[in-house]
Amino acid sequence: MAVPPRFSALERKIKNKSARIGIVGLGYVGLPLAVEFAHAGFRVVGIDLDERKIRAVNAGTSYIEDVATSTLKPLVKEGRIRAQSTYDGCGKLDAILIAVPTPLRKTKDPDISYIVSSLDAIAPQVRPGQLIVLESTTYPGTTEEVMRPVLEAGGLAVGRDIFLAFSPERVDPGNRVYQTKNTPKVVGGSTPWCTKAAALLYGQAIEHVHPVTSTQSAEMIKLLENTFRAVNIGLVNEIALMCEKLGLDVWEVIDGAATKPFGFMRFYPGPGIGGHCIPLDPHYLAWKLKTLNYSARFIELASEINGHMPEVVVRRAGSMLNAAKKSINGAKIFVLGVAYKKDTGDTRESPALDVIRLLQEEGAKVSFHDPYSTSIRGEDGRVERGSPLTPRTLSAADLVIIVTDHSAYDYRSIVRHARRVLDTRNATRGVTAGRGKVEKL
Ligand SMILES: NC(=O)c1ccc[n+]([C@@H]2O[C@H](COP(=O)([O-])OP(=O)(O)OC[C@H]3O[C@@H](n4cnc5c(N)ncnc54)[C@H](O)[C@@H]3O)[C@@H](O)[C@H]2O)c1
Repeated sequence: MAVPPRFSALERKIKNKSARIGIVGLGYVGLPLAVEFAHAGFRVVGIDLDERKIRAVNAGTSYIEDVATSTLKPLVKEGRIRAQSTYDGCGKLDAILIAVPTPLRKTKDPDISYIVSSLDAIAPQVRPGQLIVLESTTYPGTTEEVMRPVLEAGGLAVGRDIFLAFSPERVDPGNRVYQTKNTPKVVGGSTPWCTKAAALLYGQAIEHVHPVTSTQSAEMIKLLENTFRAVNIGLVNEIALMCEKLGLDVWEVIDGAATKPFGFMRFYPGPGIGGHCIPLDPHYLAWKLKTLNYSARFIELASEINGHMPEVVVRRAGSMLNAAKKSINGAKIFVLGVAYKKDTGDTRESPALDVIRLLQEEGAKVSFHDPYSTSIRGEDGRVERGSPLTPRTLSAADLVIIVTDHSAYDYRSIVRHARRVLDTRNATRGVTAGRGKVEKL
């Protein structure tokens, strides 16, 4: 197969690091990616509509926990990374990687409007020799059915003049071992030359690249990964509900099963799921399959069970208060942790927000603390500020609920000072004194 001349030119620029890279969307995915490419020796332009992020990046200040300011600042100073709030100059870039949000609509249908609007801004500037990669999680077919026609509308052919690929981001915020650089990168192009171009680019900055034969396969790989998590979390949450009925300690059951050295993988029950991935991504797949007249039953069931967990937490809170001749109505409840995940400040889709809202609806006076997130925004848009975590605030509460098991918490002290504790994460497992005050999910 003859090498397209545009490919050879791009290949040279990638190999000698003169390729200019644009990253659209400087969030949890885009900023760490920009840093890796800058470390690899490329010049990176970040494009984001959020002016605060643009100012922060250009000042060398990070707003993402996984990127230290001490890492970002020198790269900005050396001119390796800069940020802008417009798409001006996109035509001068050699590769454009798109990492914009892909939320769900209220109906749980995919909202790919951010992809579409960034594409609308890029398409008029597309020129021969460019590589465009979508990183945002989406349903199988988005790259081919939505992106390709827009990019080819001006007469350029994908695979010959320009190169198009999908490469799912797998970043696991807060993970100290696996970060952008050492998490293998799946790459699937619209044509074999597209796959080669994208694999070559990522290979400069990421330790291991895994090429696949199509964009659809790459899109599906990401959805399998996140559906696998959502379904297994749903399963273990249901096991927790079963254990409650049977009077068993689900944590002991999981620990016991995990002694089997093969064929079992630990998942943990909890107050529900959150973040931008696990609660959302499987619905992208379910939606796509609905258009093909197929019902994604595991996804629906897992979503139902996981979505019900905040109510389970509130029911358990009610029975703990009831046992003390109190009711949720009027009780002072102190929620510890509002982020969806330990050691991060990300409250997107966090089950803590549902727990707090449900408790408030039942008349509780709820306060909260989170070392990474000092305020939250309710459904009505009202901002609520966190409370300090002190012996006094702990002992003043009728019930303390551990919703997020941040490592920074001193669980011994929490149990010592609280009157009663509902531990939804088994975070107090190492605490022996005051055990009688603690109930686990
Ligand atoms: N956060 C994660 O852990 C994670 C992991 C893997 C995959 N993903 C996927 O990656 C994608 C991005 O997620 P994220 O967590 O980085 O989101 P994010 O909200 O942190 O960042 C997205 C950024 O895009 C910007 N943006 C929105 N519309 C834009 C536009 N038209 N032009 C330029 N910038 C625009 C926003 O201002 C924001 O800064 C999503 O599809 C998500 O599902 C996220």
